[in-house]
Amino acid sequence: MALPFSRYPMKIRNFIIITQIRNHFTRPRKTILHCLLALPQQSSGSFLHWRFKNYRTSSLWNSSQAPSSTGQDNISAQYTHPTSLNELLLKTEVTNFDSQISLEELDDLSPISPLQQISEEDALQIVAEPPLPPASFTLRDYVDRSKTLQKLVLLGVNLSKLEKRPGAGNLLLRLDFENDIQKILLFLKDIGVEDNQLGAFLTKNYIILNEDLENLRTRVAYLESKKFNKTDISRMIINAPYLLSFPVDRLDNRLGFFQKELGLNVQKTRDLVIRLPRLLTGSLEPVKENMKVYRLQLGFKHNEIQHMVTRIPKILTASKRKLTETFDYVHNVMHIPHHLIVKFPQVFNSKLLRVKERNSFLTYLGRAQYDPQKPNYISLDKLVSIPDEEFCKEIAKASLQDFEMFLKTL
Ligand SMILES: *[C@@H]1O[C@H](CO)[C@@H](O)[C@H](O)[C@H]1NC(C)=O
Ligand SMILES: *[C@@H]1O[C@H](CO)[C@@H](O)[C@H](O)[C@H]1NC(C)=O
Repeated sequence: MALPFSRYPMKIRNFIIITQIRNHFTRPRKTILHCLLALPQQSSGSFLHWRFKNYRTSSLWNSSQAPSSTGQDNISAQYTHPTSLNELLLKTEVTNFDSQISLEELDDLSPISPLQQISEEDALQIVAEPPLPPASFTLRDYVDRSKTLQKLVLLGVNLSKLEKRPGAGNLLLRLDFENDIQKILLFLKDIGVEDNQLGAFLTKNYIILNEDLENLRTRVAYLESKKFNKTDISRMIINAPYLLSFPVDRLDNRLGFFQKELGLNVQKTRDLVIRLPRLLTGSLEPVKENMKVYRLQLGFKHNEIQHMVTRIPKILTASKRKLTETFDYVHNVMHIPHHLIVKFPQVFNSKLLRVKERNSFLTYLGRAQYDPQKPNYISLDKLVSIPDEEFCKEIAKASLQDFEMFLKTL
């Protein structure tokens, strides 16, 4: 739950207690979501029976022909002129891979009130609602008055997190639980977001509550049409909560981008984004930058990059500094050639300090032998992956105490 229990207004505390007591004595046990939505015990089963639509997709992804070189930057083009409240909010949210807003971005946004983007109809609704919060409000102050907020709290939405996001308070206070939110919750349940994941999901992407249901269905149908199965889709959405907030053509461009840029086939492109779905929602700039770093700065060949990325997709979004520092040590200090690094791309995600400590110890013992052609070869994999005890016993052939003593001298 979002706040310490004692900080909730009395009404909510009572509701929570009653709900918990009721849950405790009702078997089969109902979840809070069931109570909120008054759902029957088994509600799903209707997954993906939506009307299928045809898409005109731009992509590479569909065609086997060599792609044209245009259309890479639709993302920024598309979001330069936000036309709806959702797009504006989304633009503020999806700024990096962790969807956290930096202070500069907050500054950028402050002059634009999200309210300016609301239609007249919406505006009328707002007037009818209780007065909107002043600039320095906490959503907690509104929980008492807003059924919607109360119910979101019960679902585990963290209001203290949400109130830091520009526009969130206004949006949530405008929505009606029964009319606006319930159907989205049912939809999310249907596509595989578990009850106990909803709170965290909505804390990340509350904007989805304001989304048109038909749009969401269209996007799921698009993913299905690209042969992502139900398990894939729910997994992707849970790991990248903004996924369904993007229009089909943007998703399509993204798939096309990775397919083309990495030269992967359809299956491998699919695997890549299933494993790291934030590739479809986050900024492309770090990805493009890392690709450049691998190719130009670190000197990997195209097929080597392809291999590393399909093994460990996360290295596409690792920090550039970490990549270059790791490479510099492994290649220039340990003299491990490119083709051996390619066999173990995990090294870019490992703790560099550990690599340094172990290599130093081996060097000290005269055992730092990384050439597979010679005896007593030590692979990067072994060097990095195994626990200290095993490393000492199997590789360094020393005691753990010796290793620990050695580390103190560094
Ligand atoms: C809610 O968010 C606040 C602010 O980010 C954080 O300090 C708090 O631990 C969160 N509460 C829960 C239950 O996650
Ligand atoms: C869905 O596809 C994944 C691979 O993308 C596969 O591992 C999984 O078994 C499939 N699940 C179902 C239910 O078909």
